[in-house]
Amino acid sequence: MSLKDRTRLFWRGPVIKALRSRVRRMIGIGPGQRILKMPVIETERLILRRFDQEDLKDILAWEDFPVGPSHEVQAQEFLDYCFREYRERGIGPWGMQLKETREIVGNCGLPHINFKTLCGEVNCYVAPRHRGKGLATEALKALLEFGFRQIGLTRIQARCELSNLSSQRLTQKMGMKFEGLVEDDPSSKDPSRKQKMYAILEKDFKVAATGVPDGTMAVKARPDGRN
Ligand SMILES: CC(C)(COP(=O)(O)OP(=O)(O)OC[C@H]1O[C@@H](n2cnc3c(N)ncnc32)[C@H](O)[C@@H]1OP(=O)(O)O)[C@@H](O)C(=O)NCCC(=O)NCCS
Repeated sequence: MSLKDRTRLFWRGPVIKALRSRVRRMIGIGPGQRILKMPVIETERLILRRFDQEDLKDILAWEDFPVGPSHEVQAQEFLDYCFREYRERGIGPWGMQLKETREIVGNCGLPHINFKTLCGEVNCYVAPRHRGKGLATEALKALLEFGFRQIGLTRIQARCELSNLSSQRLTQKMGMKFEGLVEDDPSSKDPSRKQKMYAILEKDFKVAATGVPDGTMAVKARPDGRN
């Protein structure tokens, strides 16, 4: 290798590193953060995909409230939150679209990811009239697979209110283990309220997903884009 090539290699690394960190600072990404690609994920009954403005009517139908201005404001606020998350983190809530009827029946996501500890947190909401059909289990298993296989997380957790038995059952069905009570949760509206912490490690998910060590699941993650 010529001296010129060696010199070029010597300074190229640090310069690229410095440029990268300047760009990250300019667009407001801290050192422990990453902008992720949000795939469309297909499961047996669901398409998990980004929300768009057209989904407002389905969101308004989730709860059986009389549709009025304040309900619409809240639904729009939720959509605006989704769009902000897509812009700032690359990923945000996935809309859970039923393949059969094309209706969006809920949402699920990975709202907290710590790239230093490789730990993520999942959440899910299913419209009341679609509960109890296993849709949350199906969607969250796909998100665990995305978190472990594509982001490279080693642990995924979920926090449940003490009184929320269906969410506790849901975490157990996903193979998550109860770890204990957590308090002073900064993301909770009431910091004094205790919550149950459940978590699953990547090595246990392989077994939990399918019962076989390679963890093959019937989940197809597709590149970004609508179906
Ligand atoms: C929690 C939630 C997402 C579950 O959605 P879902 O699609 O009904 O979930 P699944 O059908 O996959 O599984 C729910 C399990 O909870 C069980 N369950 C429901 N209500 C229950 C109750 N009161 N007590 C005990 N178990 C209950 C169901 O029987 C089912 O278990 P099973 O398959 O062994 O019978 C849904 O109830 C919801 O959106 N709740 C409001 C938002 C929320 O609390 N999210 C959780 C935070 S992550």
